[in-house]
Amino acid sequence: MLKAFRATVLFGLAATSLLSTVQAITKVQRVGRYLYNEDGSRFYIKGIAYQEQGEVVQSADNPFGEPSSFIDPLSLGSACSRDLPFLKELGVNAIRIYSVNSSLNHDDCMKTFSDAGIYTIIDLALPLNGSIDRVVPSWSTNILNQYIATIDTFSKYDNVLAYNVGNEVVVQNGTAAAPFVKAAARDIKAYLKSKGSSALVGYAAINGASNWRDALANYLSCDPSNANSDSTSIDLYGLNDYEWCGDSTFQQSYAGTNGDYAGYNVAAYFSEFGCITSPPRLWTESAALFGPQMAPVWSGGIAFSYFPATSAQGQFGMVNISSDATTVTTGDDFDRLKTQYGQLSPPNSPDMGSATSSSFPSCPSTNDTWVASTNLPPTPNAAACNCLESTLTCQFTPSVSNYTAVVGSLLDTGCSLLGQAGGNCNDIGSNGQTGVYGRLSDCDPTIKLSFVMSQYYELNNRNAQACSFAGNGTVNPLAPSSSAAANAAASSCISNPGATFTPSAVSTSGNGAQSGGGSSNTSQNTTKNGAVSLVGDINAIIGLGAMAVIGGISALWTLA
Ligand SMILES: *[C@@H]1O[C@H](CO)[C@@H](O)[C@H](O)[C@H]1NC(C)=O
Ligand SMILES: *[C@@H]1O[C@H](CO)[C@@H](O)[C@H](O)[C@H]1NC(C)=O
Ligand SMILES: *[C@@H]1O[C@H](CO)[C@@H](O)[C@H](O)[C@H]1NC(C)=O
Ligand SMILES: *[C@@H]1O[C@H](CO)[C@@H](O)[C@H](O)[C@H]1NC(C)=O
Ligand SMILES: *[C@@H]1O[C@H](CO)[C@@H](O)[C@H](O)[C@H]1NC(C)=O
Ligand SMILES: *[C@@H]1O[C@H](CO)[C@@H](O)[C@H](O)[C@H]1NC(C)=O
Ligand SMILES: *[C@@H]1O[C@H](CO)[C@@H](O)[C@H](O)[C@H]1NC(C)=O
Ligand SMILES: *[C@@H]1O[C@H](CO)[C@@H](O)[C@H](O)[C@H]1NC(C)=O
Ligand SMILES: *[C@@H]1O[C@H](CO)[C@@H](O)[C@H](O)[C@H]1NC(C)=O
Repeated sequence: MLKAFRATVLFGLAATSLLSTVQAITKVQRVGRYLYNEDGSRFYIKGIAYQEQGEVVQSADNPFGEPSSFIDPLSLGSACSRDLPFLKELGVNAIRIYSVNSSLNHDDCMKTFSDAGIYTIIDLALPLNGSIDRVVPSWSTNILNQYIATIDTFSKYDNVLAYNVGNEVVVQNGTAAAPFVKAAARDIKAYLKSKGSSALVGYAAINGASNWRDALANYLSCDPSNANSDSTSIDLYGLNDYEWCGDSTFQQSYAGTNGDYAGYNVAAYFSEFGCITSPPRLWTESAALFGPQMAPVWSGGIAFSYFPATSAQGQFGMVNISSDATTVTTGDDFDRLKTQYGQLSPPNSPDMGSATSSSFPSCPSTNDTWVASTNLPPTPNAAACNCLESTLTCQFTPSVSNYTAVVGSLLDTGCSLLGQAGGNCNDIGSNGQTGVYGRLSDCDPTIKLSFVMSQYYELNNRNAQACSFAGNGTVNPLAPSSSAAANAAASSCISNPGATFTPSAVSTSGNGAQSGGGSSNTSQNTTKNGAVSLVGDINAIIGLGAMAVIGGISALWTLA
């Protein structure tokens, strides 16, 4: 109804003709390695990145030039209406959004885009601590809950094509982060299924040498249980690819990459593309990407970017927005991309009937350039972690609301002190190379910290000073007085470490909340990964020295 009303106002068309012009956006599904419209024709992502750049503090700590804040573009209804004519002029059918705020209202933008036949690809990560850390990775309740909150906010819209569980988390020499991404895909996939959502589960990979890039692609779509199951596989692999510059050719720029993905088993696209090293950007790569050589392998791509974006390589973007946010000025890139996108006619083959369904092969074996274990981290278990937190003898009680960096430095300190006192931080650590995950590895960093503080406090005969941590810790008067209480609490609350299960919507439990108190609800668990045996690894202490980066580096929106 509202659609017809709006259209009448805008175009003054007779109501009868509207029935054919304004139709609900149709569902896109993956069959095997291709995407299809409801009518069985192939769907190609003809897209553009759509997010104003957040604050980027350039520093040695931030080699990827990642933003520390974000502006949720889907919460700004008038901006979406402002931009719609330009997105239509470009001819895009999809936009990629890197971070959204689940507590805001997105109705106006999502309807604006849905009515125009524009799908959204939504990244679930947020800047800083809202993404899987590529240096000290962990798949934990705080990230899972954030992802779930976003899905719950967007599941009512008909134009979410995919949710990305990460962007450029796994990098060269950092491939041990891959199990955490795969576990995220597994749990988000199960969650979407439990909600009856048909949105695809995606990941956007940084480009790199094929000796680990290709293994990552295969790992994200493999089945570690060798049962041809899709339960841990992504549906949509994105490659952030900036290989083509100037008036290049398929042979020069894409042939190698295209060949590497020729046998891939799920849908793939360029989650970012556009030259970044030698302007001007001609966008002639579009013809290659959507052409007969690449269409059998790729389902389109996302040009980077609509809004201005600055990186170490330069300044990019199709438009400028006036300071009062009302006016859009287009640039030459806009015109060139519009011309190129306007000329595309990608092949409509294979048709849906003849597409073969995916098989999910065994995972790549490890070697010098690919080190990821096929033993995945467990499903983050908020009930177990909250149970533990409420029982701990010494609790982290931050005096500031932006406590993330404090947690990192206190974990460093705590683990080092614990080591000197004869303890260790194995319970909170995880290792994607050995596939060993401590029983608290899935807990919120603040709970991990309280656990470390409690162990230290107990090893010091509950001397109140040992719970102070310069005013960051508070003795919990409700905690049991038994010896090794923290350890006992972990055993009782975390009765089934390593379990995987379908996560459920969890109301956010703030730090220090005295929630739970009983034993964790394990009735949903399956034991796919089995219990984890913990190694007595003194290197864990040294390894955890890197914990400080919890507050620093994250895996978000970057160029190349
Ligand atoms: C989301 O928006 C709310 C309301 O403006 C704000 O309080 C909150 O900090 C935002 N969250 C994030 C992660 O930016
Ligand atoms: C990755 O590790 C190898 C072997 O240690 C080293 O030669 C190479 O320089 C490293 N690459 C990066 C990008 O750090
Ligand atoms: C490791 O295996 C991958 C395939 O998964 C391969 O591409 C890569 O070249 C191998 N690396 C080495 C050092 O053999
Ligand atoms: C946006 O403004 C900047 C600064 O004036 C300029 O360098 C850039 O070319 C403009 N971009 C577009 C797309 O017009
Ligand atoms: C990130 O840290 C802030 C406090 O600095 C906290 O409010 C927020 O919940 C954290 N987010 C995640 C996903 O851990
Ligand atoms: C927390 O926020 C305050 C005020 O914005 C800022 O001065 C401080 O540096 C922040 N602390 C951390 C650890 O980020
Ligand atoms: C808490 O720990 C941080 C980091 O070590 C320290 O800077 C701060 O002074 C401590 N005390 C309080 C009350 O925040
Ligand atoms: C435990 O989980 C099961 C399965 O979702 C649910 O039916 C049950 O109500 C939960 N029990 C508690 C105490 O939360
Ligand atoms: C969950 O794990 C526990 C401990 O391994 C086991 O006893 C229980 O049967 C499991 N529950 C389900 C529903 O699989």
